[in-house]
Amino acid sequence: MRHLLTLFDLTPDELKTILAVASHLKSMLRKGERPSILANYTLALLFEKPSLRTRVSFQTGMTQLGGGSLFLGEDVGWGKRESPSDFTNVLGQFVDAVACRAKSHERVEQLASFNAVPVINSLTDLSHPCQAMADILTIQEAFGSVSGKHLVFVGDGNNVSRSLALACAMLDLKFTLACPSGYEFDQPWLDRIAEKYPNADIQQTEDPHEAVKDADAIYTDVWTSMGQEAESKIRCAAFANYQLNAKLMASAPSTARVLHCLPAVRGEEITDEVIDGPQSDVIAQAGNRMHAQKALLVFLMRPEWITANVG
Ligand code: CP
Ligand code: NVA
Repeated sequence: MRHLLTLFDLTPDELKTILAVASHLKSMLRKGERPSILANYTLALLFEKPSLRTRVSFQTGMTQLGGGSLFLGEDVGWGKRESPSDFTNVLGQFVDAVACRAKSHERVEQLASFNAVPVINSLTDLSHPCQAMADILTIQEAFGSVSGKHLVFVGDGNNVSRSLALACAMLDLKFTLACPSGYEFDQPWLDRIAEKYPNADIQQTEDPHEAVKDADAIYTDVWTSMGQEAESKIRCAAFANYQLNAKLMASAPSTARVLHCLPAVRGEEITDEVIDGPQSDVIAQAGNRMHAQKALLVFLMRPEWITANVG
């Protein structure tokens, strides 16, 4: 049974395959073709935190693939009404996969540990692998290829940037995190990447202007992630010089693309003129969530379709 808890659960070749399937399914959709690859399959979405993009893209993605989906919110009582093993083993009798957004990464790991049903991490405090897949797809579409490109993340060493750094290590992009002291990546995550991908080029700096000067893509995310609301004031002060605004964009090549996983706090980590500007790909990036996740769902549930149709 395969799970996707972090991108460490995929090989670089598997990640490339998922990206190729995503492009394939996206171009089919543009021609009006919606192949029923997952007819009669059901995906459950078990979510403990708010979501627009992830929730809707998984549910519409399943519909387009001929399958169905169920949204399971707080009322199903995960971890409250019955033991985690009873919950998961029962759920596994009914559905073919679970996309889970949890308050802690350990909860998603526990869900997967029963091997009752494939589990897809749909955001935890540790990582956001589905987001990173869509982000790489977006960079690939902008430049034709991703190897050798430089992705600069201006912001927090959080779930989104962790997953991006790993995706870059897997696909030979250079990655730089520009953040204030104290908000860098945790050493265990860096050690895991270095152990598996010793040639990874991951830099960290406190100077955002220096960081973006040869960027191909510049990415930012909220300064205060879900669950960190109590730290918001301290974080806003710490990140004040890390706003993605016209001044910072002036330090970057005019060819650099702008990315944000959304939702954004406009006027905080990014200004209107940048997020709505000509270098921004954020809306297409959000749209790519669905294409990447459709490919992932097929990869996990019907891999033989990929072998027969995409190679
Ligand atoms: N980017 C992202 O995961 O958005 P949602 O929180 O709306 O799902
Ligand atoms: N880092 C953000 C991403 C939201 C999609 C959070 O965890 O809230």
